[in-house]
Amino acid sequence: MRRGFRGELLSLNDDPSFVGSKAINHQEDGIIVIEKGIIIARGSTEKITSDFPDLPVTHFPNHLIMPGFIDSHIHYSQVDCIASGGETLLGWLEKKVFPIEAQFQDKSYALTTAEFFLNECLRNGTTTALVFAGSQPQSVEALYESAFKADMRIIVGKVLMDLGPENLADTTEGGLLDSKTLIQHWQGHGRLNYAVTPRFALTSSSEQLAGAGQILNEYPDIIMQTHLAETKAECAAVKERFPKARDYLEVYEHFGLVTDRSVFAHCLYLTDSAFERLSNAGAGIAFCPTSNLFLGSGLFNFMEAQRHSVKIGLGSDIGAGTSFSLLATMGEAYKVCRLQGYNLDPFHALYLATLGGARLLRLDRYIGALTVGQEADFIVIDPAATPLLARRTADASLAEKLFALQIMGDDRVIAASYIKGKPLWEKPAMRPS
Ligand code: GUN
Ligand code: ZN
Repeated sequence: MRRGFRGELLSLNDDPSFVGSKAINHQEDGIIVIEKGIIIARGSTEKITSDFPDLPVTHFPNHLIMPGFIDSHIHYSQVDCIASGGETLLGWLEKKVFPIEAQFQDKSYALTTAEFFLNECLRNGTTTALVFAGSQPQSVEALYESAFKADMRIIVGKVLMDLGPENLADTTEGGLLDSKTLIQHWQGHGRLNYAVTPRFALTSSSEQLAGAGQILNEYPDIIMQTHLAETKAECAAVKERFPKARDYLEVYEHFGLVTDRSVFAHCLYLTDSAFERLSNAGAGIAFCPTSNLFLGSGLFNFMEAQRHSVKIGLGSDIGAGTSFSLLATMGEAYKVCRLQGYNLDPFHALYLATLGGARLLRLDRYIGALTVGQEADFIVIDPAATPLLARRTADASLAEKLFALQIMGDDRVIAASYIKGKPLWEKPAMRPS
């Protein structure tokens, strides 16, 4: 069965900061045509209605239709420690995060949290995410089970942390074996993938970091995620533990973890050389502005990363991050750049939250641009969802409207989230004609 979805279509087919406005794919009144969860046509309403005369169409007047957002860094295991303040990174992990993550020993807690987490993603317009689970294999199983039911494109990994606190640490070999078992059971199942996930250099032994590098090398379709250079105190502790490494990145390089399938969250304290080496390796960065501001970690040097052509996506980094909304994240990204004298324009920000994230996660064949042949994961946005937004976006240009959404938008503007053409979340008041 074919169905059309009509509205104002907006997506990016490339990075607008490199190719300019030709990256913008916009039809003020357009239709995407979907068959078996795949986009088979896209164009102006005039063209599509003439090409597909009997097409049933769901119409969203005065709404934008965009690709679903892609969250490049989020911890589903930290849903219950969001808004736990008063600490910087290392104290926050010990006092606020580890006690919550220990609860994932209980599979039923993991399952209810996984269901809540995916629903919250959809409510905020996020249709794909690269996710840290807990250190317990059942925490990964629970998210896989929920995401498989919803047919969502989710990448997740079991946290490796053999140097963590007693109630959370895995064993060096046990953690690696559990990772392999999860890959063998789940990788490529439906739309699911695996990310080998050493928490960061401080919580894994050298043997475990080396084992993570071997797993990454052994399975060519998985990716790797970890944290890098988020705070000065963390960098100092890494320097003390690995005195021979010339910088933090070299620790990961040494263990074979810096590849074109590697995603590093944060990267606030990188040297020029480290940006250069990330770029040469084809590795990428998840920029997590709400988290960096909440923990007081610092300001990501977006311009330096851009200058070195490092791949960049946006991460909410829940629970250090303060919102599931990638619109809110785009807004904070704008402010972090503004504090450093750079204007992050709204099309560029939207690129980071969609196709940029898809490229970072190596999913751009499937999602991120709402083009023919891609999977129909899309969201419907109401730019007049609040009285202030309605007033500010009335008669606004596309760039102004998108910028207003970037600065003032959040879950309230998401009217619906579709996974492979099916509405998995709809705002209760939403009544398409
Ligand atoms: N570094 C190591 N673990 C974590 C984590 O859970 N959150 C953040 N923000 N940084 C980390
Ligand atoms: Zn994180």
